[in-house]
Amino acid sequence: MIRLSLAEVAELAGGKLHGGGNGTAVVTGAVTLDSRTVAAGGLFVAFVGERVDGHDFLGAAAGAGAVAALTTRPDDALPCVVVADPVEALGRLAAGVHARLVEGGLTTLGITGSSGKTSTKDLLGQVLAAAGPTVSPPGSFNNDIGLPLTVLSADETTRSLVLEMGARGIGHIARLCRVAPPRIGVVLNVGSAHLGEFGSPDGIARAKGELVESLPEDGTAVLNADDPRVLGMAARTRARVMTTGRGPDAEVRATGVSLDETARARFTLVVPGEQHPVALQVVGEHQVANALSAAGAALAAGMSAADVAAAVSAAVPRSRWRMEVDRRADGVTVVNDAYNANPESMRAALAALTGLPGTRRIAVLGAMAELGAGATAEHERLGRDAAAAGIDLVVAVGADAVGIADGASAAGRRAGEESVHVPDRAAARELLETLLRPGDVVLVKASRSYGLEVLAADLLDERAHHGEGVA
Ligand SMILES: Nc1ncnc2c1ncn2[C@@H]1O[C@H](COP(=O)(O)OP(=O)(O)OP(=O)(O)O)[C@@H](O)[C@H]1O
Ligand SMILES: [Mg+2]
Repeated sequence: MIRLSLAEVAELAGGKLHGGGNGTAVVTGAVTLDSRTVAAGGLFVAFVGERVDGHDFLGAAAGAGAVAALTTRPDDALPCVVVADPVEALGRLAAGVHARLVEGGLTTLGITGSSGKTSTKDLLGQVLAAAGPTVSPPGSFNNDIGLPLTVLSADETTRSLVLEMGARGIGHIARLCRVAPPRIGVVLNVGSAHLGEFGSPDGIARAKGELVESLPEDGTAVLNADDPRVLGMAARTRARVMTTGRGPDAEVRATGVSLDETARARFTLVVPGEQHPVALQVVGEHQVANALSAAGAALAAGMSAADVAAAVSAAVPRSRWRMEVDRRADGVTVVNDAYNANPESMRAALAALTGLPGTRRIAVLGAMAELGAGATAEHERLGRDAAAAGIDLVVAVGADAVGIADGASAAGRRAGEESVHVPDRAAARELLETLLRPGDVVLVKASRSYGLEVLAADLLDERAHHGEGVA
């Protein structure tokens, strides 16, 4: 956070100062929503959530050294900037700070797409960090709260700001782009995440394309040419278009892609007039597309292709529960990809699973949420595809996931033996503990709301098997 007086905070956020005299006290620390993470000099934002009212923690925030709080009502525990809507106020504050930072030379890069935003943000953040101070926090801060908080964690020393932008509806990305207008915009893919809310893939494309519509003329739209809906967004931007992909026509492309014995990709990064070898540290072939998108954005930001290739090769996994590969002491490998799931990311994870060394490939899959009317058919199709991909055992977890087991059985996996449905996590764990043998590789994946990362952690913790992490 840059240094701001309370008067400036009130002005930028559109609030009214209560307490704090004439507002000359200065916020020097982080902006935070959690009173437990308030540091001296910080600004505490009191949200009224479903279970917790941030206003109950104003005293705690003051005690921890917060200079002030953003609130919806005056309180005497500490100086307050009182606003009607704290989410909107946070966005306004971030927009004001962002504008100042851009004047000072900050480059902002935005990333959207149905799958791989966080993975790509983590790669790009590490690549740009090789060239200068970069803000790109781990995790998935891609909404009206997380994005402004990320912006507010930048300061005058920051050269690059990498923002993840998510959408659950039309207009969401445009709103995020108004808070922090990017100069470089990356669109990864248009899949079926949140299809239920958007109605159709074209609706998703319309929403994701708001990113490139917001770009300035001297900006760059980095588009994945392997996805026709993304390539189609070229017509919606004033910015220069840079294409990335596996196909021969992309400006930034990968040739000679191969996977090593731990399912990490190697390829040659080809840009006009140059090529450089890349060996990724992150797991799964889907990371090639993410790495190309990150490479394109870093090139657009002015890095050399040689530096980009070296930095993307050095980048490590940063955010939790995305293809985390751990081997237990008994020789069972657990792949925790339980952060989230949709049809495309399920297939990407299954492909990565088949690429890992082991004797049996086991997919423990929960349901994919928010697919709308086609949900049952999608789950069955996934089960069939898992069987076709050569998964030896499919375990579908929870009532919403039963279609996965049905699909796998329909595609030839013996029901009850090679294709099993269990009611919940506990039953899955019990079954797996009787079943797992040294050499097995187990993928655990489902939509966020099903919490299967707990199952993955249980499988690793059980019998105190904290093996050497191979990821
Ligand atoms: N380019 C890709 N194509 C398909 N699947 C991918 C791709 N990149 C990542 N995935 C899969 O999607 C999962 C989620 O990845 P990630 O968290 O990077 O996506 P996200 O777009 O940030 O998701 P969210 O919308 O939940 O924030 C990964 O664990 C992996 O299984
Ligand atoms: Mg994310």
